[in-house]
Amino acid sequence: MSKPLGVGLLGAGPVTQAIHLPTLATLGDRLRVTHVMDVASDLAATVAARAGARHSSTVEELLADDAVDVVAICSPHAFHADQVTAAVAAGKRGILCEKPLATTKVEAERIAQAAGEGGVPVVVGAMHAYDPAWIAVREEWGDLPERAHLVRSRIYLPGNDEFVALAADPAFPAPPPPAGPRPTAADRLRAGILGLATHAVPQLRHFLPGPVRVVSAQTMTPFGYRLVLTGDDGRTAELVALMPGAWEPDWTFEAWAPGARLHMTYPPSYVLAGSATATLTDVSGDRCWRFPANGYQVEWLHLADVVDGHAEPLIGLPIAIADMLYALEAADGAASLLEDQA
Ligand SMILES: NC(=O)c1ccc[n+]([C@@H]2O[C@H](COP(=O)([O-])OP(=O)(O)OC[C@H]3O[C@@H](n4cnc5c(N)ncnc54)[C@H](O)[C@@H]3O)[C@@H](O)[C@H]2O)c1
Repeated sequence: MSKPLGVGLLGAGPVTQAIHLPTLATLGDRLRVTHVMDVASDLAATVAARAGARHSSTVEELLADDAVDVVAICSPHAFHADQVTAAVAAGKRGILCEKPLATTKVEAERIAQAAGEGGVPVVVGAMHAYDPAWIAVREEWGDLPERAHLVRSRIYLPGNDEFVALAADPAFPAPPPPAGPRPTAADRLRAGILGLATHAVPQLRHFLPGPVRVVSAQTMTPFGYRLVLTGDDGRTAELVALMPGAWEPDWTFEAWAPGARLHMTYPPSYVLAGSATATLTDVSGDRCWRFPANGYQVEWLHLADVVDGHAEPLIGLPIAIADMLYALEAADGAASLLEDQA
């Protein structure tokens, strides 16, 4: 067995503290946290100490560290594209970039060019696309994606803070929201789609590959959306999210075709609670899949396998970029529909 790959984390906020550190702690024979960077240097120091890692407050310091083989980009969305290209330019061996990979088409093109030229594997932290129950059910669903006439993603979750506090001792309270003009309803809808609906897109594209049209869009209070998309052939997807909701959390992805149904139930983010449960129902009855590892563990192990030359990328960069552009088009389409209705 080769030496564990060194992981450097850019951003030491909730996703690093409550998702990636606990996940990586279960994978110590393959991956080891060696460096934590955050623009808040005291936060970087506190979080790095938990993993016995070095810390710094600039991207350059982390990228110059030879003990960092793989870079995890866990900063706010706006920095993802620049940090992916910087990690490629620094000659790092692999990148895990939190979703969304980018926030504009121009950024996506920049990433495609940089990572393509550098030949560096990039895994996007869309953990549901790596969930082992999702991977298993895809082998068995036959022509369900072509026959499904209705698809639905439903996300109803208590506040992230609750899960973060259950998964880790938050090192510092979340920073206050940035001052500035109050976001419009269209801004909030766009942010909700890029931040949350993005998780459903890799699944959704198997059923409605695009192009799709947003035929209905609404926001929900305090944070949520309801969208209806249709493809050229009239097939429909409904995407609904509401946060913070209350217990019980409910995160599902479903597809219906005549005589067949797929039902995926995902555990909330921030918990190491195993995979989703996938249930495929047809004339022969129900078949179910569930595994001990969750999507975060599988995405990290997969990246380690690709970097070590043991596997080809399950989701290549062109597919990840197409997923991101699909989410972006849905976000822009929904935002302009909402503006037209105002
Ligand atoms: N896959 C998932 O389940 C999941 C869950 C939560 C968040 N995320 C994603 O992870 C990313 C980070 O989210 P978060 O919840 O940790 O919150 P966040 O974005 O509020 O915090 C991230 C941290 O980044 C730091 N930061 C700010 N500018 C930086 C820079 N230029 N370089 C490095 N660090 C910088 C901040 O100080 C903060 O500590 C977001 O893109 C989000 O979409 C993914």
